[in-house]
Amino acid sequence: MTNRSESEGRANLSPDRKRALLARLLERKAKQAAKGEIREEYYRFDLYPEYLQLKQQLASIESLGRGNPFFVPQEGINRDTTTIGGRELIDYGTYNYLGMCGDPAVSAAAKRAIERYGTSVSASRLISGEKPLHRELERAIADFVGTEDSIVYVGGHATNVTTIAHLFGQRDLILYDSLSHNSIFQGCLLSGASIVAFPHNDWQALDLILHERRDRYQRVLVAIEGVYSTDGDIPELPAFIEVKQRHKAFLMVDEAHSIGTMGRFGRGIGEHFGVAPGDVDLWMGTLSKSFASCGGYIAGSRALVEYLKYTAPGFVYSVGISPPNAASAIAALERLKAEPERVERLHERARLFSSLACEKGLNTGPSPDSVVIPILVGDSLKSVRLSNALFERGINVPFMIYPSVPQNAARLRFFLTCTHTEAQIRYTVETLGRVVNEVR
Ligand SMILES: Cc1ncc(COP(=O)(O)O)c(C=O)c1O
Repeated sequence: MTNRSESEGRANLSPDRKRALLARLLERKAKQAAKGEIREEYYRFDLYPEYLQLKQQLASIESLGRGNPFFVPQEGINRDTTTIGGRELIDYGTYNYLGMCGDPAVSAAAKRAIERYGTSVSASRLISGEKPLHRELERAIADFVGTEDSIVYVGGHATNVTTIAHLFGQRDLILYDSLSHNSIFQGCLLSGASIVAFPHNDWQALDLILHERRDRYQRVLVAIEGVYSTDGDIPELPAFIEVKQRHKAFLMVDEAHSIGTMGRFGRGIGEHFGVAPGDVDLWMGTLSKSFASCGGYIAGSRALVEYLKYTAPGFVYSVGISPPNAASAIAALERLKAEPERVERLHERARLFSSLACEKGLNTGPSPDSVVIPILVGDSLKSVRLSNALFERGINVPFMIYPSVPQNAARLRFFLTCTHTEAQIRYTVETLGRVVNEVR
């Protein structure tokens, strides 16, 4: 639209100025037309470039012989074995570390809870969803970890996202290990805090960053894991504690893979190093691994837990953990306390696996004593081929490729469980050694 004075003025323009003006108007119109044309990929999911890229990646994996290896139904309980397509295979694909999923006492507890409370608590705990099982579980976790209290959320991933995002904000800094789980990273992004990834397990680099930047921020969170789920290695926890104390920061340890698996009694990475539980501000853990359930927790001070219970969005605006899930986690914890030898057996099996793999010259990465054992392959397609070849020989082990791990760091990842037998492990490593050479 033109206003009056503009069109009056135009009548007196020279022919050259008029041509220039016309050209500018046409250019503006063309731009507007282009603007009006919204590309289809902006409003059609089937044309999303990211989706098309995914389809391409799936097609190249499927072309390697076994069809689509994702979402394959497992037809029974995954412990040392699994059943797929009616075939029993030795299983390394699930983190049922202590064999609690499928344990008769754990299943019986879940069934009793269903009979008494039904399958859902049907409300946020803050309003009407609280059951006696909830406090029982939170007390049991706090006692086990050694903290004043704990809070249980419905998902492990959600626990990290909502807790981190809720406790930290724009004036704060979060430093997280570069190999941190996606849930930690998502929590960092959502918080709006300044975020920096420090090199994996490098507390000296962390110290340096804090030395340079600590005074620019109000609160600082350092987020690490007890056992890293892709490499199976552990942090030097006492060094991290010393650094965080010196710089007056909070320390969060994600124990998804270390609770139940580390320390003589399975109390986690804190027990492994003999640190005081109060030296870590947020002990985070999941119920989906050693505890045969579904959900996550934060264990820490009374003040922290009380604050989260009244204000953390993923807790307040979400349903409480279901009765069977709460009951199975309580029962798994009780079983673990009664039978700590499960942890030792798990480590014996893992040591056997690692030592046999080393004898075969296989690359198990940086963690010889871990219960998560990667076999580093490098090339993505090769890792898929290896996984397929093992599947044909009765072994279920998933591959890990980019973006779950860095480019050229593809691997097979073996989750050990205390229910694996020595014979299963010997057969697996023997077969793996042969198959690696064939695929080469
Ligand atoms: C380190 C870590 N944190 C958090 C989670 C999320 O836990 P969940 O699967 O119980 O939601 C996982 C999942 O594997 C994990 O490995």
